[in-house]
Amino acid sequence: MIIAIDGPAAAGKGTLARRLADYFNYAYLDTGGLYRAVGLSMLRADVSPEDEVAASKASLSLNSALFTDTALRDEATGTAASKVAAMPQVRANLLEFQRKFSQLPPDGKRGAVLDGRDIGTVVCPNADIKFFVTANPQERARRRYTEITARGETADYNEILADVQARDARDMGRKDAPLVAAADAHLLDTTELDIDAVFLRAVALIEEKQKPQ
Ligand code: DC
Repeated sequence: MIIAIDGPAAAGKGTLARRLADYFNYAYLDTGGLYRAVGLSMLRADVSPEDEVAASKASLSLNSALFTDTALRDEATGTAASKVAAMPQVRANLLEFQRKFSQLPPDGKRGAVLDGRDIGTVVCPNADIKFFVTANPQERARRRYTEITARGETADYNEILADVQARDARDMGRKDAPLVAAADAHLLDTTELDIDAVFLRAVALIEEKQKPQ
C-alpha cells in the first residue's frame, strides 16, 4: 500500500504522515528531508544554493550525517532546499531512491507513506491513496512562529509569513514537478481542522480503500 501526501510547507503533512505510518506500521519517508539535505550540504560547503552543478553533485552523494544534523530543520535550510528543488537534475537524481522506497519499503514493511510536494503527481502517480494537506498561509506562518518561539528562539511573524509565501511561490511556480494537488487526491484543509480530526478522516479513507473490493 502506498500513501502519498503532498502540500505546502507547515500545513501539517509531516505530522499526519508520521502518525499514519505509525498506526498502519508502514515505512515513512519525509522527501523534503532529501531536498533539505542537499540544501544543507551546500550551505555547509559554503557554496551558493543557486549553483546547479554543485547541487546536482551534492544530490548524488548525500552524507547520512546530514539527516541528523540539527540545522536540517532551520528556515535557512528550507529556503536553500526550495532553491535546489527547482533544479530538474537534482529532482531526477532523487527520484529513483523515492520510487524504490515506495515500491520496496525497508524492514519488510507492507506499505509506505511518503510526504512531499510531488508524490501523488510524479513520484508515485499510482499510489493507492493520495492526500493534499493544506492550510492558509497566515495559519501556517502562525504555527511556524509558535514552534520557533516555543524553542525559546525569537521570531518575527511578518518575516515568517513572507518566507512561507515566497516558498509557496517557488514550489508552485517551478517548471519541473510544481506543487499541485493530484486530480485524484483527497483535500484536507487543516486551517480549522485539528490534527486529530485530520488523522481520523485520513484513517477512515485508507481503511475504506483497504477493504476487499
Ligand atoms: O517539506 P519541507 O519544508 O521539508 O521541504 C523543503 C523543500 O523541499 C520545499 O521548499 C520544497 C522541496 N520539496 C520538493 O520540491 N519536493 C518534495 N517531494 C519535497 C520537498
